[in-house]
Amino acid sequence: MIAERRDIRRFRPDSVPDDVLRRILEAAHRAPSVGLMQPWRLIVVAQEKTRIEVRRLAQRERLRQASRFDERARQFLDQKVEGVVEAPLGIVVCCDHGEPEVEVLGRGTIPETDVYSTACAIENLWLAARAEGLGVGWVSFYRPDDLRAVLGIPARVDPMAYLCVGWPDERPKRPGLEAAGWSSRLPLDDVVMRERWRDAPGSEDAPAAIDHAAAITARDRLDQLVKPSGSLGVLETLIERWAAITGRPPPSQLRAGALVCAADHGHVVHGTSLFDAEVSAQVTAAAARGDSAVGVLVRQGDHRLLVADLGLAGPTPAGVRDAKIARGSADMLAGPALAAGELRAGLAAGAALAGELAEGGDDCLVLGEIGIGNTTTSAALVCALTGAAPALTVGRGTGMDAAGLARKRAVVAAAIERHGGPLPAHAALQAVGGLELAALTGAVLEAARRRVPVVLDGYATAAAALAAVGLDPSAAEVLVASHRSAEPGHDTVLAELGLEPLLDLRLRLGEASGALLALPIVAAAGVLHREMATFDEAGVARAP
Ligand SMILES: Cc1cc2nc3c(=O)[nH]c(=O)nc-3n(C[C@H](O)[C@H](O)[C@H](O)COP(=O)(O)O)c2cc1C
Repeated sequence: MIAERRDIRRFRPDSVPDDVLRRILEAAHRAPSVGLMQPWRLIVVAQEKTRIEVRRLAQRERLRQASRFDERARQFLDQKVEGVVEAPLGIVVCCDHGEPEVEVLGRGTIPETDVYSTACAIENLWLAARAEGLGVGWVSFYRPDDLRAVLGIPARVDPMAYLCVGWPDERPKRPGLEAAGWSSRLPLDDVVMRERWRDAPGSEDAPAAIDHAAAITARDRLDQLVKPSGSLGVLETLIERWAAITGRPPPSQLRAGALVCAADHGHVVHGTSLFDAEVSAQVTAAAARGDSAVGVLVRQGDHRLLVADLGLAGPTPAGVRDAKIARGSADMLAGPALAAGELRAGLAAGAALAGELAEGGDDCLVLGEIGIGNTTTSAALVCALTGAAPALTVGRGTGMDAAGLARKRAVVAAAIERHGGPLPAHAALQAVGGLELAALTGAVLEAARRRVPVVLDGYATAAAALAAVGLDPSAAEVLVASHRSAEPGHDTVLAELGLEPLLDLRLRLGEASGALLALPIVAAAGVLHREMATFDEAGVARAP
């Protein structure tokens, strides 16, 4: 049927029975549409007087266009481009764009999706008409305003097509324009490309990052459990995602390897934090001893903790893994925050630490960080990666007042001014990153390679994950957002990563604390998936 559909321009005068007309209109109305918007409006024109008026518009535009074809004008004028009066019916297919202030699901970024939907309706009608033996000829030789005036169509509605509909007086095997030597169908291989646009630099074949079959099995069971469909909300997405990463829903007892990376930041000389750099080392030492929040939560959940110094300004505190690359990052206002070798070493160190935890067989990797000034670094990194304005990405961190917030914003704005943006992930990390953020980026990449779920903590870990996704887009598939923090930029990054957080507790502590707090919920999701009865087992009737 698809191969036999033709644009028809010669019609017999016999009328189209009402039941046939209704069937082809119904076919149009069954088309897919953005947000189920159904923007098509179909005006059936039977009166000859109207068709004569429309034909005059078509003839006029045909002559106007002929002058634009230069030497092909004569060949163009030989073509029959409409059968408006011959065909007993016209169907004017309009697209009603609706009220501009009413948001349509799925039309957020491509306003023309309503037009695309209407085109789907036209194709449905065209094919259904062909199945009935009817001919359809699409006429676009008119100015929309002229047709609006003839048919009383309001300004917000676009008349997309005048379709001539009737019994065909021709059965062309090929498009009329092809038979006339005007144009011809391209070979399929000219219009089909594999993976990327033809001639665009290719990417290497990457190993599959997700287990689709496991995700579908998990979702099928979710749909059978005795609950309204989708009623576990974000937990349903979480269960599917976990299965896609690991091949199974979350385990009932979840044991995590928590990696907390610490470093100092050169830009604190500009007053970007309330605290001095030595506080980073003190907090890191407390974390390693198990005295701070991360230690308490790790003990409570029987998880494993690895606290590493990637770049503290002072000596590595006792009990902290010495993975020091430099004594803090350089001031990003004076030059790149990290030297190329430092960034390389940071990424590699993070990957090695994550690999070490993964070898221990934990169910997931939990990421956290310690670093005086690193909310400013995170904000600068997010600006550099996404081009977002500092006003969106800079927050109060450990509790800055209004003047401090303005200072942080000014530092981030100056850094972006100096280094430019948006930048590719590698360049962004080097320009404005930090050593703990580089290590966290490496850790995400390693976890993705091993298909270990990564439970992110707050702003800094999310910013590092965004950099990781810039380096390897498939890394996004292993990420889980534990919570939305009080830092306003966190939301921007989570949206950029396409992640919905499990919790919103206005946390701003860092040290993996939010991620560890979310783990019981992850485990509970696994228990629900495993232990809830299905509708059949519980003897409960499903919703129709
Ligand atoms: C958006 C659109 C506008 C068209 N406008 C006209 C038109 O004004 N006059 C005409 O004779 N054919 C028109 N056509 C029909 C095309 O010329 C025809 O589909 C094409 O040559 C391929 O032929 P086929 O439909 O028989 O396969 C239009 C088709 C489309 C999709």
